[in-house]
Parts: sequence; C-alpha cells; structure tokens
Amino acid sequence: MADKHATLTLPSGKTVELPVYSGTIGPDVIDVAGLLKEGYFTHDPGFMSTSATESRITYIDGDEGILLHRGYSIEDLAEHSDYLETCYLLWYGTLPTPEEKAQFVYNITRHTMLHESLAHFFDGFHHNAHPMAMMCGAVGALSAFYHDVMDIRSQRDREIAAHRLVAKMPTLAAMCYKHSIGQPFMYPRNDLSYAANFLYMMFGTPCEEYVVSPAVERAMDRIFLLHADHEQNASTSTVRLAGSTGANPFACVSAGIAALWGPAHGGANEAVLRMLDEIGTVDQIPRFIEKAKDPNDPFKLMGFGHRVYKNFDPRAKVMKASSDEVLAELKVVDPRLKVAMELERIALSDPYFADRKLFPNVDFYSGIILSAIGIPTSMFTVIFAVSRTIGWISHWHEMISSPYKIGRPRQLYTGEAQRPYPSN
Ligand code: SDX
Repeated sequence: MADKHATLTLPSGKTVELPVYSGTIGPDVIDVAGLLKEGYFTHDPGFMSTSATESRITYIDGDEGILLHRGYSIEDLAEHSDYLETCYLLWYGTLPTPEEKAQFVYNITRHTMLHESLAHFFDGFHHNAHPMAMMCGAVGALSAFYHDVMDIRSQRDREIAAHRLVAKMPTLAAMCYKHSIGQPFMYPRNDLSYAANFLYMMFGTPCEEYVVSPAVERAMDRIFLLHADHEQNASTSTVRLAGSTGANPFACVSAGIAALWGPAHGGANEAVLRMLDEIGTVDQIPRFIEKAKDPNDPFKLMGFGHRVYKNFDPRAKVMKASSDEVLAELKVVDPRLKVAMELERIALSDPYFADRKLFPNVDFYSGIILSAIGIPTSMFTVIFAVSRTIGWISHWHEMISSPYKIGRPRQLYTGEAQRPYPSN
C-alpha cells in the first residue's frame, strides 16, 4: 500500500495522483502505471531511472559504493564467506547452518557431471569459436535435456534447476576451453571444492596429476563470489524478461549469457586486458586518455564507469587487494598491472573522468588476477557467466515465485503516420 503520493500536472492542466512506495533502504519509487489510462507512457531509454521490479536479493548504493547481498556487505562476504555459501544466501535468503551448507555443497558437487550427449555439441564448434559463443549454445542446449522434466510453477523443480545450473556451468565452461585448445574434456572431481574443481577441469589432463595451488583456489573462489549478483543489471534484466514469458530457466540463462557478452557489460573484463595490451607501456597512456575523452572517437576506457556506481565499485576495491595478494603469492610480475595502476591514477586525476564519476569497476582488475592464475583472456567473460548464474537464477526464481506479468515495454513512435499504398 502506498503511504505517499506524487502529484503530476498533465499538459491539459489535469492533476494525477501517483502512488509512491518506499523500500527498506534506497530511493522511493513512483508507480506510474496509472498514466496509461490518462493516455501517456513514461519514457526512459536505457532505464536510467526506472524500477522494473521489487526485489529482496541485492541492494546497491551507487553514491556510497555499497553492495549488499541479502543485507550482507560484499566486503564481509569476500572476507568471511565463499562462493557456494554466497550462492546459498542469494537463493534461500539466509546464511546456511554448517549442516545446511554441507548438504548444499554435496548437492552441487553431485550435479557437476553433464549428459554424455552434450559433449557432442562441441564437435559442431570450430576450434577457434569464442568460448562465449559456445556457452550460449551449450547452456541453451541444457533445455533439451531438462525442460520437459520440470514445471517452473513448482518450487522444488525450480530449486533442482538452480542446483543443476550452478553445478554444471563450470563443467561446460571448462569444456569450452578444452575444445578451443584441442585437449580432452576432464570429468569433474567430487573430492575438490567448487573453485578447485573448475581449475582442475580447465588445466588438468589425463596424462598427469594436477594439483591446485591453494592461493589460486582462493583467488578463483573470490572472483566467483565477487561477480555472483548485481541487482537489475542488463543480463539479469534479460533473464527476468525471458523468464516472464514462461521460458524454461536454461533458455533464460542462455539469454543472460548472450547479454553479458557485450563489451559494455560482462565483456569488459576481456576488453580491459586487450586495452592494456594495446596501450602497452605507461608512456602511451596519455594518448589513450585523449582518445577516451574525444567524443568523436568510439574508444572508451574499458573497466571504467558504471551505470550505478558514481563513486567507487566496492568489488573493484576488493579485487585490487586480491590482485596484489595473488601476484605476490604466485610471484607473478605482470607489467599490465603497472600500466593499469598508472592508468587509474592518471584517469582519476583528469577532470573528464572525475566530472563524469568514471571510476574503475569490477572488470578493471579482475583480468589481472585471471591472467595471473593462467586463465586465457577469451575465457574471462565465461567465468563471469559461471559466477553470475546464481544471480540470474535467483532473480528468475524470485519473479516466478510471485504473481508476475509478461514484460512488454511500450515506445515513443516517431515513424510515418498511416499512409495509403501507392495505387499506380
Ligand atoms: C558491468 O549494471 C551492472 O551492474 C553491470 C555490472 C554487473 O556486475 O552486472 O557491474 C558489470 O557491466 C560493469 C561495466 C563494465 N563496462 C565497462 O567497463 C565498459 C566501459 N564503460 C562504459 O561503457 C560505461 O561507463 C558504462 C556502459 C559502464 C556505463 O554507461 P552509462 O551509464 O550509460 O554512461 P554513459 O555511457 O552515458 O557515460 C556518461 C558519460 C558519457 O560522456 P558524455 O556524453 O557525458 O560526454 O561518460 C562517458 C560517456 O561518453 N563515459 C566514458 C566511459 N564511460 C562513460 N568515457 C570514456 N571511457 C569510459 N569508460
């Protein structure tokens, strides 16, 4: 029920009372649904100031650089939790007891294998296919194995679909990588943690034992944790919109992967490394800063800026601390880190970026860590997709669990008015 109202005066002079709702924290929202009967649509390209739904999963304060998952700060979760516990939190809404966590980890671990037929899907991909292209296809193909054995109206069926997706995404991701380098697929191992198992399936071979470094395992788990969910971002909104038609969750997640791929979104982590490689050395930075500032040059500083964070991205701060730890522990010297840090220093001292509140985002430092642990650049966004699957599917579940309508935005039409077909 609305406890406040906003009054809008229409061009005709008529005033319309619009309900205003308050959340737990964050901005109030004005319910504009009543404008339709007054003959108006709202207009907000890019949804800059549009609340599309009510949600209890994640809260972001872009001005204060706050990110909460079910009320817990990303800093606390990064320090005290791990990825699967955060998955449990996002899906069920509370932190698990030790017994609940053990059962959840057991269930996820024992769903990491895929139907053997899925391996044949990769035969159709050329070896140099982009791994995100393979992921779009392979995850969508999961629909062919499960969609007819689940009823999205069933809470239990939705939970099983979520377990399957969280469990199988690392296996599919590693298969994309193995296919691209012509190595055999590695079956998951139930004696390894989620992160260690992913690294094993990525870098292990049947020819020798592969031991995961604890430092790399911790870094991989933290990367997964930091990317798990982020409110109504473009790919999550894509999953919600696809889900609002009643499509099965595997097809919805495949749509989310496609949306994430873009360089303005999850594809930025890959683009950051390519940009750092293109810049090459610190002395080239000023030239690229000028390109980024030139309105006629499409070049943007990848890893900078965010639709919501107009201060700092808290994940970037945690990521930066992790990159220092990982590179020190692995004794990796990556000249790109020096370029990245100098680029950040110069950009943040330039009024163009400061005025537009363009700070490093989650993607700016993640690539440095992923490179340090041996992940190829082309797999960066795939790892983002693996991690974000729990966010996507938790938002899908939240929407499907309550009454919902199919998403169907309207438009401002500026095309031709009706005209007769030429009689000649
Ligand atoms: C993610 O939404 C989420 O939560 C996403 C995400 C998640 O976890 O799901 O956080 C993950 O997608 C992070 C963002 C990764 N993308 C990049 O790093 C790509 C580079 N960043 C830009 O493409 C851009 O900053 C966006 C897309 C992130 C945000 O774009 P907005 O909010 O639409 O802002 P804008 O494009 O209108 O930019 C405002 C101004 C413009 O200049 P003016 O027209 O005012 O003169 O800032 C400029 C832009 O040209 N600008 C940049 C810039 N980003 C914005 N100029 C140079 N380099 C940049 N990176």
